Amino acid sequence: MDIPEISSSLPFIRLLSILYPLILSCKVLACNPNDLTALRGLAGCLESDIGGWNVSNYDCCSWTGVTCANSTSSSLRVVGLELGSNRLYGTVCESLLGLDELKTLNLSNNFLQGSPTRFFLFQNLEILDLSSNDFAGSLSASIWLPSITSFNISHNHFSGSLNFSLCDISTNIQVLDVSNNNFNGEALTFFQNCTSLQNVSFNGNSLSGALPANLLQLQNLQRLHLQDNQFSGQLDDRIGNLSSLVELDVSNNNFTGNIPDMFGSLGKLEYFTATSNKFSGKLPNSLVNSPSLVKVVLSRNLLSGPINFNCSSMVRLSTLNLVGNNFSGPLPDSLFSCKTLTAFNLARNNIGGEIPNNFRNLQALKYLSLSNTSISNISLALQILQNCKNLTMLILAHNFDQEEMPDNLDLQFKSLKALTLTKLQSLIYNNVSVERLVPEFPLVKTRQNVSGLQYIAIDSLPPTLDLSNNRLTGPILPSLGDLRQLHVLDLSHNQFFGTIPGSLSGMKSLETLELAYNKFSGEIPQSLVQLSFLSKFSVAFNQLSGEIPTGGQFMTFPGSSFEGNSGLCGTNLKPCNVGRTPSPPPPPPQPGSSDDDKMEIFGLNFAIGVVSGFLASAPCCFTCLFKLPRRHGN
Ligand SMILES: *[C@@H]1O[C@H](CO)[C@@H](O)[C@H](O)[C@H]1NC(C)=O
Ligand SMILES: *[C@@H]1O[C@H](CO)[C@@H](O)[C@H](O)[C@H]1NC(C)=O
Ligand SMILES: *[C@@H]1O[C@H](CO)[C@@H](O)[C@H](O)[C@H]1NC(C)=O
Ligand SMILES: *[C@@H]1O[C@H](CO)[C@@H](O)[C@H](O)[C@H]1NC(C)=O
Ligand SMILES: *[C@@H]1O[C@H](CO)[C@@H](O)[C@H](O)[C@H]1NC(C)=O
Ligand SMILES: *[C@@H]1O[C@H](CO)[C@@H](O)[C@H](O)[C@H]1NC(C)=O
Ligand SMILES: *[C@@H]1O[C@H](CO)[C@@H](O)[C@H](O)[C@H]1NC(C)=O
Ligand SMILES: *[C@@H]1O[C@H](CO)[C@@H](O)[C@H](O)[C@H]1NC(C)=O
Ligand SMILES: *[C@@H]1O[C@H](CO)[C@@H](O)[C@H](O)[C@H]1NC(C)=O
Ligand SMILES: *[C@@H]1O[C@H](CO)[C@@H](O)[C@H](O)[C@H]1NC(C)=O
Ligand SMILES: *[C@@H]1O[C@H](CO)[C@@H](O)[C@H](O)[C@H]1NC(C)=O
Ligand SMILES: *[C@@H]1O[C@H](CO)[C@@H](O)[C@H](O)[C@H]1NC(C)=O
Repeated sequence: MDIPEISSSLPFIRLLSILYPLILSCKVLACNPNDLTALRGLAGCLESDIGGWNVSNYDCCSWTGVTCANSTSSSLRVVGLELGSNRLYGTVCESLLGLDELKTLNLSNNFLQGSPTRFFLFQNLEILDLSSNDFAGSLSASIWLPSITSFNISHNHFSGSLNFSLCDISTNIQVLDVSNNNFNGEALTFFQNCTSLQNVSFNGNSLSGALPANLLQLQNLQRLHLQDNQFSGQLDDRIGNLSSLVELDVSNNNFTGNIPDMFGSLGKLEYFTATSNKFSGKLPNSLVNSPSLVKVVLSRNLLSGPINFNCSSMVRLSTLNLVGNNFSGPLPDSLFSCKTLTAFNLARNNIGGEIPNNFRNLQALKYLSLSNTSISNISLALQILQNCKNLTMLILAHNFDQEEMPDNLDLQFKSLKALTLTKLQSLIYNNVSVERLVPEFPLVKTRQNVSGLQYIAIDSLPPTLDLSNNRLTGPILPSLGDLRQLHVLDLSHNQFFGTIPGSLSGMKSLETLELAYNKFSGEIPQSLVQLSFLSKFSVAFNQLSGEIPTGGQFMTFPGSSFEGNSGLCGTNLKPCNVGRTPSPPPPPPQPGSSDDDKMEIFGLNFAIGVVSGFLASAPCCFTCLFKLPRRHGN
């Protein structure tokens, strides 16, 4: 009777006997106990929890960010610990050294403190990324990372000198990034025998003196970032020995003398940036004939002589920034052969003369600034440059001495997003005036509230009409509402008056409408609630009255958007008196619609020009705006 039962359970027993060693081996192949202790130690000494870690669970290989692999021992060893961007606080403790098989340690972008140099002691570590924390301390000869290939401690508070031989021990290091710390002094013997080194970032420290000689012997060096230090003296022409170099940035240092004629041997160099030094003399011949260079930034130096870039040789040149030197004119008409040139900034040099006719051939050109270069003949300039079909931003401010805006110019700029002419200095985008924007463009600043400066490519500039901080007066044109593509309209800090036209609701794409600090009166048009993308709105400090519109995005605007208007009321601000219909004061006298009156609008002595991207959709408006000031003063 029992027999069938036993026999029926036999397969199960057999299965067990097969599985058992596997189950055993699974147990054996769990996280190595030493590694478990090390990781529990780390979790214990941090002030914050580590998301995804259950330290009661023995299988540390399943914890977030932990990678295990086989080793010679019978347990699984931790080879990777990647806890970047985990909001970790506190001090990393030495228990971490228990992870003696670790190959990758990535704690980047947290809030970790203390001096980790005492655990720069990993036999097998290949990748160390401690960037963007609050670590401090000095790098010293006690570093012992014989297997390291990539070492990144950028954006911390490390200090002291870099005077020791890194590659006596770390012979395989390829990437070294110690940027944005507080290192100082001369970097003397640091690079002895670092033959594998490819990319070095020293930028954003206080290093001084000359470049370390043994750095200039590294044949595999591709990227050398030395910017934002206090290196001085002549730029060592032995940089020409670095034949693998792709990027060289020496900007914001104290280099003097000529730029060495070293580019002939730098056949792979694509980016050369030397802004804000004291380089003087003429451009070296090998630079203006380099076939590899893509981006050349030499702004804010003391360079002089002609602008003799030879685009028959420079077949890849895309960005040329020469702002704030002493280059002299005229504008060479050989530049037209720069078929790949997209950004050219020559502001603040001694050029003079007219724009050569063949500039019309610069078909790739997107950004051009010739601001403050003493060029003349605005009519010719605009006629020529409108043929540059890709031109997005054109800045010609501070030129055309005593010239008047031309009559009857039939302008056809196709993709222009922003145009600044004579004295309108503050076409600004998020509080950066053109004068600050020009030197560095094609970069503009944005997101001011974030700590530090953030830059975005101007490519991503939304269609913007920014006339804030001028002395513009008059009412605003109802036809502005036709600018359907406009995303940002900023007229704040001017002297505009009259009512806010209800037709502004036609700007269906509008995200930002800034009208603060003017003299607008009357009510806020109810139609503005139709602007469904509006996320930023201010009419503060005007003379508005009546009830704040309700509905739409208006429910989301804070009281500060409306403050400084004694007659305004509504839920955002203060409740309106029940039963009393607010009667707006009569609008101030408004100009009629003749040309002369329109001129008053942007009036004054500004000869202006403005903006588009949306121009394609509103070409006539551009022409109107453009013509506005032309006969002013008659
Ligand atoms: C943590 O792991 C232990 C042991 O595996 C388990 O009992 C416990 O439920 C886990 N806690 C959480 C919150 O998952
Ligand atoms: C670990 O080693 C075993 C046996 O040598 C092998 O079958 C397995 O694929 C290895 N696993 C890993 C992740 O290397
Ligand atoms: C470290 O982790 C971050 C993500 O948190 C990642 O962006 C970064 O590339 C990693 N560093 C390395 C050297 O892989
Ligand atoms: C080092 O880390 C920073 C910040 O995480 C990163 O921006 C930088 O590209 C890294 N450096 C290298 C050479 O990868
Ligand atoms: C660099 O280190 C060497 C040896 O430790 C020392 O003799 C020399 O004075 C140091 N130089 C500087 C500038 O710190
Ligand atoms: C570094 O290079 C020098 C000269 O090339 C050599 O004498 C020395 O032995 C090297 N040191 C190491 C640790 O390789
Ligand atoms: C080194 O820099 C070059 C040039 O910027 C880049 O192409 C390369 O990927 C970098 N190499 C490493 C290992 O980061
Ligand atoms: C390095 O450059 C210097 C000066 O340009 C030259 O005299 C020297 O021979 C070069 N050394 C090597 C190894 O190329
Ligand atoms: C730059 O060099 C000059 C001498 O050439 C010196 O007077 C000045 O102090 C240096 N500036 C800095 C910031 O190192
Ligand atoms: C410009 O470059 C071309 C092509 O490399 C060359 O033939 C010509 O001589 C160069 N012109 C000057 C003035 O250097
Ligand atoms: C700029 O160059 C002119 C000659 O073209 C010279 O007279 C003047 O002194 C230079 N200015 C500076 C600041 O070097
Ligand atoms: C002009 O811009 C368009 C769109 O960005 C691009 O496809 C085209 O190649 C550019 N023209 C030239 C000549 O670079």
